[in-house]
Amino acid sequence: MSNFLNKKNNYKKYVVDSKLRYFKPHATKVEKSFAEEITSSLTQNSKFINPKFFYDKKGSDLFELICLLPEYYLTRTEISILKNFQSSISLYVDMNTNLVELGSGSSVKTRLILDILTKLQPKTEYFPIDISEILTESSEQLLNDYDTLHITGIVDSYERGLEFLKNYDDKKNLILFLGSSFGNFTPDIGKLFLDNIFSTMKSGDLFLIGLDLVKDNNILESAYDDSQGITSKFNLNVLSRINDELDADFNIDNFSHYSLYNETEQRIEMNLRSLVSQSVIIGKSNMSLNFNQDELIHTEYSHKYHISQIEKLLIDVGFEIKNMWLDDKKYFSLTLVSKN
Ligand code: TRP
Repeated sequence: MSNFLNKKNNYKKYVVDSKLRYFKPHATKVEKSFAEEITSSLTQNSKFINPKFFYDKKGSDLFELICLLPEYYLTRTEISILKNFQSSISLYVDMNTNLVELGSGSSVKTRLILDILTKLQPKTEYFPIDISEILTESSEQLLNDYDTLHITGIVDSYERGLEFLKNYDDKKNLILFLGSSFGNFTPDIGKLFLDNIFSTMKSGDLFLIGLDLVKDNNILESAYDDSQGITSKFNLNVLSRINDELDADFNIDNFSHYSLYNETEQRIEMNLRSLVSQSVIIGKSNMSLNFNQDELIHTEYSHKYHISQIEKLLIDVGFEIKNMWLDDKKYFSLTLVSKN
């Protein structure tokens, strides 16, 4: 417990009301600013933009639209798996299970799990961990709809948030990491990330991870390049964000969305392509960047997996696989693992 008090001292507690509170670290971290990260990543030989910058208000709204696209099967399929297997998931949780979610996420999926927990428990605790946007309208909505729910948000990175929760109480945690977000890491970083999660888990804790599966190239490519051009807008929006926040002058019409499925690496690679040779000024950093015609800015990977690769990945970390659920078409997977 003293260990927990120590960690708790690094956070400030904000109480919104009796059922909603959040913890936020004191601003002591030296984290690079948006301007610093962008100027560094756009002056490398292979230019890139960290995908975490996609999610300003506009980007988050566009992402919500992506999830509804006919071509974007991921969200819909994951929800259908959760619905189909709700009752089997309930076999693994009990009266004393807390729900932890990495990303405060789409509340549709969270709700399917909360349906199970709130039926089983007189009081249910939900801990969303997210670097921002913990206090969304969706938490208010959740509290309205589930009488016995208590929400404690942790505004921090997933790893630090889990570390904070490690000694929070003696209850078993069910940690959700949905939407194939894990696939957005490079394999190296992904491995480190899983090792980290594993080390913050108590014996008996559960981890439910949603991962997208390898399938026909055309289906994969259309999911990331839809006919209405929403994914393109989402990708290009990061340039508008740089314009707005860093006083830059990207001409959005001079860039296009370019994504492809790399079969060898088993991943969708999203890029922005410079359509002409051009230079762009980043006012805030007082610098000018040159782009060749057809030069690419890499923005995101989305890895796809074979079932055997998922099993190996999780077992190598030390997890025990409890169950894996798929949809009929075998498009998407949900895997439940535990630390023993
Ligand atoms: N993790 C999801 C995926 O890889 C969501 C996502 C992240 C996404 N960035 C995206 C979806 C860009 C479409 C376009 O699919």
